[in-house]
Amino acid sequence: MLIREQVALAPFTTLGVGGPARYFAETHSEAEVIEAVEFARSRQLPLFVLGGGSNLVIADKGFPGVVLKVAISGSSSCTPPRKNPLFIAGAGVNWDTLVAQTVDANCAGLECLSGIPGTVGGTPVQNVGAYGQEVSQTIREVRVLDLRSLQIEILSNAECSFTYRSSIFNTTERDRYIILQVSFALHQDGKPSVRYADLQKFFASSTGDPTLAEVRAAVCEIRYRKAMLIVPGDEDARSAGSFFKNPIVPQSFFEELSARVESRGLQLPSYPAGDGFRKLPAAWLVEQAGFSRGYSKGAAGISRRHALAIVNRGGATAADIIALKDEIQAGVLNEFGIELQPEPVLVGF
Ligand code: EPU
Repeated sequence: MLIREQVALAPFTTLGVGGPARYFAETHSEAEVIEAVEFARSRQLPLFVLGGGSNLVIADKGFPGVVLKVAISGSSSCTPPRKNPLFIAGAGVNWDTLVAQTVDANCAGLECLSGIPGTVGGTPVQNVGAYGQEVSQTIREVRVLDLRSLQIEILSNAECSFTYRSSIFNTTERDRYIILQVSFALHQDGKPSVRYADLQKFFASSTGDPTLAEVRAAVCEIRYRKAMLIVPGDEDARSAGSFFKNPIVPQSFFEELSARVESRGLQLPSYPAGDGFRKLPAAWLVEQAGFSRGYSKGAAGISRRHALAIVNRGGATAADIIALKDEIQAGVLNEFGIELQPEPVLVGF
């Protein structure tokens, strides 16, 4: 395996900011992953695992250790007797390629997650979700390297403790596991999920149920309109997707805020989030706090097509992105008393 030195990391991310990795190892097999981990340990260097780079902000000074890019490829499917078809993919497989493969096989379960950038291995970490589906609904098992024992293990869905944008991989067991492979149990000839309002609106005038392929195409179109689909040269899509999580607040706080907002002639949008809680759209809070779509702060800005995406308008630094993030967080806190939590992983800060 080739381990390179001083490799610029910005081109490996969709946001396109950040300095170099001291060492950079691209690993194509489980053996190479272990080799790269041993390389870092032998030099007592910190390790950072890179997937598709679609949910990352890398600091301008870069990363002072070993960046391990997981490029394990290969995907296959099988149907165990009397069970749902299983799709098994290496962590380095492009996410949307896998989704396309499942839709082509007329298997339901991932169609609403079409058009999301990144790799398969990144999806369990933050329990990727969109348009009414989350990977936690279909993940059967996650094959991992346990960095404590340097053993390969299989974690069941339950062992991953998935919740909204969260799992053990980004909370209790952060930095413990490297994801090598993920398996998804799907539904052969299943009905597509058309639960999310945007999707229902898209199909409002059509007769009959849409097919999986039609839902996939609709999701890609909706994502494109919001610049949440990576299109080369589209400045509004040079982002890390949603920059903040949608805050989940207690019902009592929601009611109090609703009343306050109503007295200004506005209606606070919200979604159910389990007993006693409401989820608020961070994009709405950002806009109402005065950061409208297209807002600019130097070379960083807010997408013209979605208030939740911070974009690199060309030549932005990580410091520019963070300065805008800080300004938005302070504005929303001041206006609504809510501390927005960043959604992307911040590396090297
Ligand atoms: N809204 C605005 N301004 C905007 C956009 C949205 O006020 O510019 C408000 C509207 O009230 C809208 C609501 O926000 O109804 C929700 O917007 P949207 O449907 O676009 O979804 P979101 O909550 O902003 C979440 C995920 C996205 C996912 C979409 C679709 C998070 C943090 N984000 O966004 O995931 O694609 O739903 O399901 O949960 C990501 O995580 O990177 C991501 C792109």
